[in-house]
Amino acid sequence: MNPKPVPILLSARDQLHATITKYLSTLGADHPMVVLERPANREHGDFATNAALANVKAMNSKPRELATKIVQHIVDKKYDFLERVEIAGPGFINFHLSKKYFGNMLSTIRKEGEKYGNSIMGKGKTVIVEFSSPNIAKPFTIGHLRSTIIGDAIARMMSFSGYSVLRDNHLGDWGTQFGKQIVAMKKWGDENAIERSKQPVRMLVELYVKFHAEAEKDPTLEDEGRAWFAKLEKGDAEARRLWKKCIDWSMVQFNAIYKRLGVSFDMMLGESFFEDKMDEVIADFTQSGIAKESQGALLIFYPGDKYPPLMLRKKDGATLYATRDFATDKYRIGKWGKDILIVNEVGAEQSLYFHQLYEAEEMVGYCKKAQRKHVAHGMIRFKEGKMSTRKGNTIWLEDVLAEAVKRASTFNPKTAEEVGLGALKYNDLKRETIKDVLFDWDEVVNLKGNSGPYLQYTYARAKSVLKKAGGAKGAKAGSVKNAGSVPTQTMEAGKPGALEYMLDQFPEIVARSTEEYAPHHICTYLFALAQEFNTFYNSRKIVGSGEHEAYRLSLTEATAVVLRNGLKVLGIIAPEKM
Ligand code: ARG
Repeated sequence: MNPKPVPILLSARDQLHATITKYLSTLGADHPMVVLERPANREHGDFATNAALANVKAMNSKPRELATKIVQHIVDKKYDFLERVEIAGPGFINFHLSKKYFGNMLSTIRKEGEKYGNSIMGKGKTVIVEFSSPNIAKPFTIGHLRSTIIGDAIARMMSFSGYSVLRDNHLGDWGTQFGKQIVAMKKWGDENAIERSKQPVRMLVELYVKFHAEAEKDPTLEDEGRAWFAKLEKGDAEARRLWKKCIDWSMVQFNAIYKRLGVSFDMMLGESFFEDKMDEVIADFTQSGIAKESQGALLIFYPGDKYPPLMLRKKDGATLYATRDFATDKYRIGKWGKDILIVNEVGAEQSLYFHQLYEAEEMVGYCKKAQRKHVAHGMIRFKEGKMSTRKGNTIWLEDVLAEAVKRASTFNPKTAEEVGLGALKYNDLKRETIKDVLFDWDEVVNLKGNSGPYLQYTYARAKSVLKKAGGAKGAKAGSVKNAGSVPTQTMEAGKPGALEYMLDQFPEIVARSTEEYAPHHICTYLFALAQEFNTFYNSRKIVGSGEHEAYRLSLTEATAVVLRNGLKVLGIIAPEKM
């Protein structure tokens, strides 16, 4: 039996777009250009278009005349989502949405609940979101924390927008440094002590630092390190055992961080996974003539020296970080199909490297540049004070998380974990990822301003209103499960307010953030929404407002849904109480 066809409901914007485009075609325009915008100033409508101006040449008419025709055509359609349409200036058309429209929107939010804002934008498309990617036996840095938080948000946004998302952690678990690490462990390490430690990475790093200090005095240590790495490459049992230990110990500590942050991966294919896939890569690049020998090393040269050459193999035959990246991407397209998208969330300091990588992959025929996205993040700098980054002074992530939670516990010890970690996440997400962050604890963990706690607080406030209403008289609008249409007859007189207008925009904001790999649009939006809700809350009675109560509660409820969905897509938990 065939399932019932699901009617496709076009948004008001899509309908206007389709109607105007079709109408312009019937008037003779070949490729009508129609864009519907959200004007910065709502006086200019809820949507506006310059279609009459943009197509006037093609139509051989005057802009205002064409605008008048378009408006008449739209008015004839008698759309119930429109209050009025007007022509402004040289021929702009401004659309004002009706109360009915906003009432339907609130009912939709109530019906869709946690799905409100999702879409099918990415339907049928697979994307690998690779993020976090810390290095084994090295500190999980504040930079890796940024990658973890931003990458997780991007993966969430893309799933919410209909993509099939595969989350990958490209662990740095291979390289010559493991030879040195093994030497240090054998000479000065205490395996049992590391095994028992809660922070084994700290001990591994101390050993690594000691190696370098000792090697200054005794250069033969470096040779020993190289020898152990050669053994590791050849599969020597002892070398393999100690290397594997480093991974297991590090992962204990890294996994604890992921768990606290609520971040998961579908796979963790570290660099070592590709060690036996290097020969193919080297063959692909040499046979195609893209890589050439130069002083014993193998280098990729770019046409017109667009980028500096990229080394594929060292003089001594060793492969590099880049070689393993090529193998990784070849493996990915082999396994998930040649049309997949691949997102690398990695610090901006690797921007040139990713340009070189993507260009070379297109040259050799692995992935096209259009399938690739380097989401680059800026650096975090600390304001002077407790967490200063004085040289040689590692910032341990556990300490950063602990400080955030400690600060959040002054609001409420019960929600300190969610609020503290939410604050850290929001701080990494609220500006364009590429920008540097001047980390300021007073800004990060604050109940006011553009912060995670402010949004969580606003959500909790909305929930408490709904709870009060539910408690007082079993409010009709107290819960999203209570699907039904919203009582618009009690909607305030005049144009539907700014809060309704904000709520309506959530789906398009999610879409834009997803398209641009830019979670900060969601943050900016949520902050504005929270401010709008607080204005609404402070200027009106909600519970006990007589005939207005039901409608105001439904607005409160819709705000709670959108705040919650928005925070969730950023990976931030919204506690019910604060
Ligand atoms: N492990 C690397 C680092 O800490 C990041 C890896 C990024 N991903 C990649 N495919 N190269 O710098």
